Amino acid sequence: MYRATLIPGDGIGPEVTAAAIKVIEAAGVDMLWETKHMGQTALDMFGTPLPEDTVLSIENNKVALKGPVMTQMGKGFRSVNVGVRQQLNLYANIRPIKSIEGVKSRFKDVDIIVFRENTEDVYVGYEHMVGKDAAEGIKIITREASERIASFAFNYAVREKRRKVTCVHKANIMQLTDGLFLSSVRNIAGKYPDIEYEEVTADYLCMKLVQNPEAFDVLVLPNLYGDIVSELCAGLVGGLGVVPGVNIGVECAVFEATHGTAPDLTGKGIANPMACILCGVMLLKHLGEKQAAERIYSAITRVIREAKAVTPDLGGTATTDEMVDAIIAYL
Ligand code: NAI
Repeated sequence: MYRATLIPGDGIGPEVTAAAIKVIEAAGVDMLWETKHMGQTALDMFGTPLPEDTVLSIENNKVALKGPVMTQMGKGFRSVNVGVRQQLNLYANIRPIKSIEGVKSRFKDVDIIVFRENTEDVYVGYEHMVGKDAAEGIKIITREASERIASFAFNYAVREKRRKVTCVHKANIMQLTDGLFLSSVRNIAGKYPDIEYEEVTADYLCMKLVQNPEAFDVLVLPNLYGDIVSELCAGLVGGLGVVPGVNIGVECAVFEATHGTAPDLTGKGIANPMACILCGVMLLKHLGEKQAAERIYSAITRVIREAKAVTPDLGGTATTDEMVDAIIAYL
């Protein structure tokens, strides 16, 4: 039996995480889920958006499945997502972006893995007002963190037989910070002569991604560009409802979808559970349950390919539960 932390989250989080757990259970994997809270739900229950025992539970179990949590815009508590990544040193955010037959998209053969540095850049949250009409923020880039994410991406590329790694930067403008990121990644690239390596600016990458995403394979980016580009990439394969992800460090891995709490869908029972179920697939692979992971993946893709019981964002009329039942039927 595996132990893992379950963080249902806010909004549609409880609906989509429940769907993932049901599918994992149906695939026959014995899991003991320890339910903990974060975000608005935790704030309402315990008076803090990131209770200490939630972090402790992830530390103990090493693996967590997390639903999205609400973040307040420009006010209120700081992002607990950033908080948990920093506290547990979850230094890599990985998002596999792959076309799935049957999901509406202008592109057919997108297969990109985004490696986003997860602990620094402008996300360190060092901001202050200068008087009342100006604000200043600090961007932190270190050689250690940049080399660490680059090594992670290159090791993955070798292990998974990927052909190319692309480093994304704006070193032409931010010569010291992005310059350091670029030289650190280049340094690591030199150790992997068998993997093709290229460097592109973030703006050029965005243009090329919407023109010809098939040209890209593994992307490695600092935190802010990684955040933006991974969502752009989600749009290339059908949107936020279909892309999973993981925040991973040396000790722990927190699996979570790219999408947010979807306030417009909350409580309607029509959220697409696919991204969260695909997080479950990644989690099972991480635990070594490769066969169960592959069975779930083919059941999901079959349901979508046959346009059988899919949610409205995928062009269907099914509820979350109906889609889950269809996936389980194919298991
Ligand atoms: P969002 O991802 O919640 O919603 C954007 C659009 O995508 C909406 O139209 C929504 O209906 C749709 N959508 C999202 N997930 C879907 C799903 N599973 N099935 C079908 N449609 C789906 O992004 P938004 O509105 O910018 O953020 C809402 C809240 O979520 C904010 O408080 C934000 O801070 C938070 N958020 C949390 C994240 C996390 O905890 N990892 C990530 C992103 C946002």
